[in-house]
Amino acid sequence: MSKLIPITYATGDGIGPEIMGAVKHIFDAAQVPLDWQEVTLGEKAFEAGIMNGVPDEAWEKIRENKVIFKAPLTTPQGGGYKSVNVTMRKGLGLFANLRQVRTYEPVLSCKHQKVDMVIVRENEEDLYAGIEYQQTSESVMAIKLLTYKGTQQILRYAFDYAKAHGRKKVSLMVKDNIMKIADGLYHQLFKEIAAEYPEIEHDVYIVDIGMARVADTPENFDVLVTLNLYGDIVSDIASQICGSVGLAGSANIGREAAMFEAVHGSAPDISGKGIANPSGLLNAGLLMLRHLGLGDYATNIENAWLYTLENGQLTGDLAKSGDALSTQQFAEAVVANFGKAPSKLKAAENREVPQVPVAQIADKAPVEKKQIGADIYLEASGVSSQTFGDQVAQAAEGIVPLNFISSRGLKIYPGKDIMPRADLWRARFMYDDQREVTAQDIRMLLAQLETAGITWVQIQTLQQFDGQNAFSAAQGA
Ligand code: NAI
Repeated sequence: MSKLIPITYATGDGIGPEIMGAVKHIFDAAQVPLDWQEVTLGEKAFEAGIMNGVPDEAWEKIRENKVIFKAPLTTPQGGGYKSVNVTMRKGLGLFANLRQVRTYEPVLSCKHQKVDMVIVRENEEDLYAGIEYQQTSESVMAIKLLTYKGTQQILRYAFDYAKAHGRKKVSLMVKDNIMKIADGLYHQLFKEIAAEYPEIEHDVYIVDIGMARVADTPENFDVLVTLNLYGDIVSDIASQICGSVGLAGSANIGREAAMFEAVHGSAPDISGKGIANPSGLLNAGLLMLRHLGLGDYATNIENAWLYTLENGQLTGDLAKSGDALSTQQFAEAVVANFGKAPSKLKAAENREVPQVPVAQIADKAPVEKKQIGADIYLEASGVSSQTFGDQVAQAAEGIVPLNFISSRGLKIYPGKDIMPRADLWRARFMYDDQREVTAQDIRMLLAQLETAGITWVQIQTLQQFDGQNAFSAAQGA
């Protein structure tokens, strides 16, 4: 008997205990060498007054075992309770969300055949960092924050995953024709990292056409890596068109631990009836086994499960006729089908999958940085661009010159006199010869604007890195 690998698991809420019981039954029958250590998460923890749903002893166990296998949890509405998923994501540095998308023709009908892709979604940054402001009465903004290390981490993980799993291609989706600096960082690092994996093909899609291609010809994708928001959207599009939402498992890979769960929720409407389909959680469990280097167990169980589906032994959510299996009967059927493999569905390959490394990302090599100006965001309404622009230019006189003013990204001063549609103005102050602008210069500018009765609400400094401007130009500037 091989040494048992400790894992932490939570039976969850709603249908959670029923489907976790079924998966555990299948894994135990397959003699998967796991030491199952239970923790309490979700509703029971909330009831005990733990507002984030994760008791201290659960954290300790998860960090020690480095793996949490969790059934769906119910997040109570209102009452100040935090989502356990968000708490886990932050607490364990879960930087990558992996979702498998595949078709199950002819068991599940789908417009597409032979889809088998893995979406690797960045999980901690982008617009999901939750940095939002309202600073004037008529405008709001959200900041898209990406870091060099976060970007390297997710891109390297996608290539390392492809390599470990014998996948052929990694595709990137970005919108760097518009967000040249933010999405441009992904594109640039993707090219550099791809060069280190010559055995893996790579391609880049602009996200709009990329998503259209996923919807139209998903069979052409293999591993897809992208930013948090695009990843959220494309994983739902892909799962939906392939009809596999209810069967999909997902993995959240972190620097401290990894979390595995079904894509679906706790299904309170069918809880306690013993009819839930355990397949989503089973697939999450298979991702966990492969993560732990137990790929041969995963392959055998997956093939028995595929055979079970193909054999028409289905739970009520999938069965077309009335004779559906209960959760427990389905688990028994999978166990009874151990050693069998599907003939119509694509069988899992019998190969050892090495653990995918979580790369240590080194600091970026230092670069020469020079501050050459500032964008100061101003609030004003009921005034034309010419009148307001002249006031701002005059206030800045003798300090750092006003270069332009833009409204919603479009340059409006100097230029034709218009009444802008927004009360938020971006005024760029810099010298034509791009000489250095100090913090003291910016403080003087702010003081002069205040003296002139002009309200400022935000500042962004303008930097050059190695002589290259590291900020966007205004449209029409
Ligand atoms: P849901 O995924 O729980 O249910 C949607 C529909 O799918 C329901 O009709 C349900 O009966 C059915 N369904 C889901 N899983 C099934 C299964 N294994 N077998 C058969 N039918 C299944 O989504 P809903 O209703 O929006 O959310 C319910 C609760 O789950 C909420 O409290 C939500 O916060 C939580 N949730 C938790 C997640 C997690 O822990 N990762 C993910 C999504 C939702």
